[in-house]
Amino acid sequence: MTPTSIPVAPGDNLLGHGHLFQDDRLPFFRRVTDQGDLVAARMVHRSFYFVNGPQVAHEMLVEKARSFEKSPGIRILLHDLAGQGLFTSEGDLWRRQRRLLSPLFHPTQLQTYVGAMNGEALRARERLKEGERTDLAAEMTRIAMSVVGRALFDARTFDEADELGEALTVALGWVNDRMATPYMTLQVSALEMTEYLDGKLPPWLEDVRARARAALDAPILMPGRNDPTVVKALEVLDKRIQAIIDDRRASHADRKDLLTRLLYARDADLGGEGMSDKQVRDEANTLFIAGHETTATALAWSFYLLARDPAARAKVQAEADAFGPEGPTSYDPEKLAYTTRVFKEALRLYPPVIVLPRRALERVEIGGHTFPERTLLFVNVYGMHHRKDLFPDPERFDPDRFSPENEAKRHKSAWVPFGVGPRVCIGNHFALMEGPVVLATLMRGLSFEVEPQDVEPETFTTLRPKGGIWARVRRRSAL
Ligand code: HEM
Repeated sequence: MTPTSIPVAPGDNLLGHGHLFQDDRLPFFRRVTDQGDLVAARMVHRSFYFVNGPQVAHEMLVEKARSFEKSPGIRILLHDLAGQGLFTSEGDLWRRQRRLLSPLFHPTQLQTYVGAMNGEALRARERLKEGERTDLAAEMTRIAMSVVGRALFDARTFDEADELGEALTVALGWVNDRMATPYMTLQVSALEMTEYLDGKLPPWLEDVRARARAALDAPILMPGRNDPTVVKALEVLDKRIQAIIDDRRASHADRKDLLTRLLYARDADLGGEGMSDKQVRDEANTLFIAGHETTATALAWSFYLLARDPAARAKVQAEADAFGPEGPTSYDPEKLAYTTRVFKEALRLYPPVIVLPRRALERVEIGGHTFPERTLLFVNVYGMHHRKDLFPDPERFDPDRFSPENEAKRHKSAWVPFGVGPRVCIGNHFALMEGPVVLATLMRGLSFEVEPQDVEPETFTTLRPKGGIWARVRRRSAL
């Protein structure tokens, strides 16, 4: 079948559906799931497709993963921030880097980071005063940023966190504002034109084409990139991380953090050589960015959901109270079984990454339709997580959807907050450890009276709680 038989999403105007992406993203993502597993939409002149069903998502991300790359938009937007790091690289570079980085996330290695997870939650516990009114979303960002800072840079007191954190927020804000804009479409079209012309030009023009192609990897057609605040933020990120690398190389410190392991990782493909400083910096930036805001928002939503469900809260509390006064200082999944279900259900209702965009590298058949090379397909994570045939009564918070029996009954690509297939989140086990460890550590010592208003999700680079999640801190006397 040709893609012309795929239903078209309602609500397009002259520029296509881009305005719905900007102003009405979540309702739009839900509406398109009612139209079927594959739904067509348009951004200016460019068609793309929503993938709303687990089987089709699986076919695309797992079975035919080799026929796809991430959409160039992601690469362009993150060019200045994450360069050629694991999130944005493709092909041989990605394969080599994934192989080099995977051991850092092996379950036995992950145990070594539990100290940072528990320790940073304990520091927050000490910082928070009885009766204080606090924004749990901001609090979770502080904790998650420090956890990844400690795991990555072994920064004990993570003083850099504030400056780096501010710089990251500015840079990610720029990325967010440029997503799904006509500028984005313009830049991707220009890039695709240079790809299309490959091998079709006389030799004297080929050099121009190749240079234009390379230049278009950076977001040169998007406004605001030269804004002094953005430039400054990128400089801060670059300089601080480079300074940590320089320090580590100079001191030959035998540290156990991810950065040291990145610096000393060797691969046969590199003839036993290590990565360049630029590659290490791109990977460090990538892990720092990918590794904190996602976990932080999922933790914040977990507190919000628990505040509205006293029975679930009591079960998490019981698990937390079974630990010593410091909470979980090592990781035993059995002891955090219910807390993990809560965290997973928060990731279902509010997946931090709501869409997985891909571009076809070749003509490919997906869901019984044949798509030409360069077709854009977006796995609609948010929409799929709210489908009532996959998750009955989908708006209801029900952690038991993630009991082993219930998980076994579902299609394995129905719940994909971490993606699936070869490009699955490399930090998924890290996050599934960090979420429950932080929740239990905090709840062992504190309780939070969350203010009862409804909080709307807003799409920043992740699905954040709009306006934050405000709560009054109560120190528990049982300690
Ligand atoms: C709840 C927390 C997290 C969520 C929801 C999340 C989500 C995701 C998703 C959806 C992807 C795949 C994107 C795609 O296929 O297009 C991804 C990739 C990635 N994530 Fe995570 N992530 C989380 C935590 C982490 C942590 C803790 C780290 C590292 C410390 C991390 C590092 C990465 C990296 C490096 C990639 C790229 C992997 C590759 O392409 O090979 N993430 N993440």
